[in-house]
Amino acid sequence: MTATLFQPLDIGPVHVPNRIAVAPMCQYSSHDGCAEPDWHTQHLMTLAMSGAGLVMLEATAVERLGRITHHCLGLWSDDTQAALARVLASARRVALPGTRFGIQLGHAGRKASAQRPWEGGRALAAEADPWQTVAPSAVPFTDGWHTPAELDEAGLARVRDAFVQAARRAVALGLSVIELHAAHGYLLHQFTSPIANKRTDRYGGSLENRLRFPLEVAHAVRAVLPAHVALGARITGSDWTAGGITVEEAVVFARALQAEGVDYVCVTSGGITLGISIPVAPDYQVPFAERIRKEVGIVTRAVGLIVTPAQAEAIVASGRADQVALARAFLDNPRWGWHAAESLGVKPVFPPQYDRLSASSWPGSALLRAPVAQKV
Ligand SMILES: Cc1cc2nc3c(=O)[nH]c(=O)nc-3n(C[C@H](O)[C@H](O)[C@H](O)COP(=O)(O)O)c2cc1C
Repeated sequence: MTATLFQPLDIGPVHVPNRIAVAPMCQYSSHDGCAEPDWHTQHLMTLAMSGAGLVMLEATAVERLGRITHHCLGLWSDDTQAALARVLASARRVALPGTRFGIQLGHAGRKASAQRPWEGGRALAAEADPWQTVAPSAVPFTDGWHTPAELDEAGLARVRDAFVQAARRAVALGLSVIELHAAHGYLLHQFTSPIANKRTDRYGGSLENRLRFPLEVAHAVRAVLPAHVALGARITGSDWTAGGITVEEAVVFARALQAEGVDYVCVTSGGITLGISIPVAPDYQVPFAERIRKEVGIVTRAVGLIVTPAQAEAIVASGRADQVALARAFLDNPRWGWHAAESLGVKPVFPPQYDRLSASSWPGSALLRAPVAQKV
């Protein structure tokens, strides 16, 4: 029997050839929102032939002030769209058969105007061209961060419309999956979490009120998507801190998203504030995905320190999630999908140019993957 990891999956209208997704990963390499021709092309071409059935493009800002850093990818103009179209065309030319591409649309809110991680990841200093950030409430991310301006009704309408326009552009780019980033402490998560949302109007207070803006965004985006495009959301399973989002609230959010026509959720956690302790370990976020899948019945993707093929297979075969996403494992080994197939007894699909890598024509394959002790 074929490993569950390599069985196809329907995410709403989108058929993906296996249960493996490349998680969205910011590259912090764009120029005013435009994909970097060399970096993004090599990055996405590599992932396109990784063996993952779904490749999610990085968090992509729906408006300029929604970028995390000066170098984040954006999709708010003809220029940003054209730059991404060029990169995607190259990636599609080398993609393994059936590979689908999706994009994560986001807004950094109060975590915008920051340095790249390798520059320190702190709020931009006055001489580094910072910008005024926006958020549900005028509460900084943490000490030393910019104080955001509270979004008023006009600001909310602008951001909502920016998501819609970016979604339209994503459709024009032929992307199959559009994912709203409502996690990791960015704008839509800021609305859902009492840690960042201190509003007293209909967008703050009760859970129903805190979910209102993200749900309005989902509703508005769904309304402009053609039937063949899947809509998803990345949500938080836990803020890991007292007074923050709990898994029970995540279940309510997932159910409400489903009612808005959202086809799947990817369940992650953390990021709403600093100084909290997260018990990071293999599968540590899977219980959140499992709970949502069982209680809501929506297509659910698990992520977070999923590393080995056996681990990924166990998650999907046991029904804890429908799909797994891996981030760092694909940076470490962009051929992860090929090796996962081999190790789970499935015939790997190589680009034809690399067919001679198959175990039947290259004995080196077995030597390379033998335990270290046997290699010497
Ligand atoms: C370089 C890098 C960039 C990331 N950028 C994003 C992003 O754009 N959007 C997002 O939701 N998560 C982002 N993440 C988080 C990953 O998608 C993933 O949830 C996290 O790394 C845990 O999965 P892993 O243990 O397989 O790496 C990023 C992670 C890395 C390593």
